[in-house]
Amino acid sequence: MSTFYITTPLYYVNDEPHIGHAYTTILADVLSRFRKNLGEDVYFLTGTDEHGQKVQEASFKRNVTPKEHADEYVKRFKNAWDNLDIEYDYFIRTTDSNHKDRVKEILLSLFKKKDIYFDEYEGLYSVSEERFITEKEKEEGDFREIKKIKEKNYFFKMSKYQEKLIEHIKENPNFIQPKSRRNEILSFLKKPLKDLCISRPKTRLSWGIELPFDENYVTYVWFDALINYISGIGWNSDNKKFRRYWPAKCHLMAKDIVTTHCVYWPTMLMACNIELPEKIFAHGWWLVDNVKMSKSLGNVIKPLDLASEYGSDSLRYYLMKNMVLGQDATFTLDSFIKRYNADLANDYGNVINRVFVLTSKYFNSLVPDPGEYNEIDLELIRNFDGIEDKVSKYIEEMKIHDLAEFIFSLIRSINKYLEQKAPWKTFKEYPKEKEVTATTLYLSIESIRICTQLLNPIMPNKTNLVLNAIDSNEIDFNFGKIKAGQKINSLSTLFPRIDI
Ligand code: MSP
Repeated sequence: MSTFYITTPLYYVNDEPHIGHAYTTILADVLSRFRKNLGEDVYFLTGTDEHGQKVQEASFKRNVTPKEHADEYVKRFKNAWDNLDIEYDYFIRTTDSNHKDRVKEILLSLFKKKDIYFDEYEGLYSVSEERFITEKEKEEGDFREIKKIKEKNYFFKMSKYQEKLIEHIKENPNFIQPKSRRNEILSFLKKPLKDLCISRPKTRLSWGIELPFDENYVTYVWFDALINYISGIGWNSDNKKFRRYWPAKCHLMAKDIVTTHCVYWPTMLMACNIELPEKIFAHGWWLVDNVKMSKSLGNVIKPLDLASEYGSDSLRYYLMKNMVLGQDATFTLDSFIKRYNADLANDYGNVINRVFVLTSKYFNSLVPDPGEYNEIDLELIRNFDGIEDKVSKYIEEMKIHDLAEFIFSLIRSINKYLEQKAPWKTFKEYPKEKEVTATTLYLSIESIRICTQLLNPIMPNKTNLVLNAIDSNEIDFNFGKIKAGQKINSLSTLFPRIDI
């Protein structure tokens, strides 16, 4: 069985989960569920990044220890993911002892190998970004709280792997996606790569993993956090599991953290002689009023508020449908409500309601026995030809928004089919030739079943209600699965219209 290991970034516990975090995590969940439905062995890892300056500061502000602070915020993330129906396999925390041990092993082995060395460095340090920056970055970027610091620190010989990394990116066109990010990294790599400062003196920061070879220092938060992708699936602790899932099929994130994932992480893996992940995919940002959502700007949209008001399924659907993967998207309540009313209440909710009501009226809520298919019936069936390959292709190409559109075009084709075949007329006009109406409703129920199974990874809750009502939980995208005579249970309105 082919395996599919997918990860999200580990979110900092200095922030409440917002729509941006929810988006990446829902996307990972949707991709995982699609893969599972296609029969793959999926492992989905998410979690929290708990060390470093930002978390230490956030905890001091609340007058609690960093660990107490992290414990509290982890609950909020886990609670959010539960409420959004995220089915992860493991939630890793960088304060887990297994993770810390693996980080120390890597540090020690690279230190022994002399890929980590001690040196004095004087440079500009951005407290907000928690790293040394260049003069050029200072001029161009929006780094805050910049200080000049002269300090002895440990450095990872990142520069040693620069050529090998460039080669890898060139030989593997799908390694960094979308293309725009790949080009960005290749142009970044045209300049000589600096070695990476991977320690922080305890005099400045105490909340971190202590270096195994120098108790006066803790590990730089990124060097620690990136290792989760292998510590979380058993590297050096559960080798069977690690061999099964590594290399990751996809590290998912937004474009803000591409350099750390496409430069720091691969060179760290190269130094450890570990294979590189297959794909690093960066989506765009959710913007509010055209600026990125962030805690410091105070413009965050809380996913749980929306989910509790309109249901987690509708939020999941909106986020998947309204962001073209790779580009930025703007969140507005208005676009959310329009999308909900048009697609969910109108198209999907409506077709189910119509077909269920007609089946109850004419066939006592039993799946009718179809007769011969005419050209209109065959045309409907043809819309579903080769569906599994189409779905696989959309997923492989990370075109979830197009996949959602494709599924809704099928749903709209059922509504159109009903209009053409008008079972309410045929039933009245040919009461004795019930099979004309029976065929229409049979094929409509089957089309609804397939569309619902297709939508299931995006909207697991409501689609399960529908699948239970027609007793069709086993995924199969072919016609003819549902048996005539089977009972159809009634359903209350799935997506009541939202009146503005
Ligand atoms: N802790 C690091 C990641 C370490 S991974 C080994 C970090 N954390 S974060 O909390 O800032 O999360 C950043 C990620 O959250 C983004 O890459 C993206 O996945 C998600 N998003 C945060 N804000 C977002 C938007 N406004 N829009 C879309 N995604 C956003 O960086």
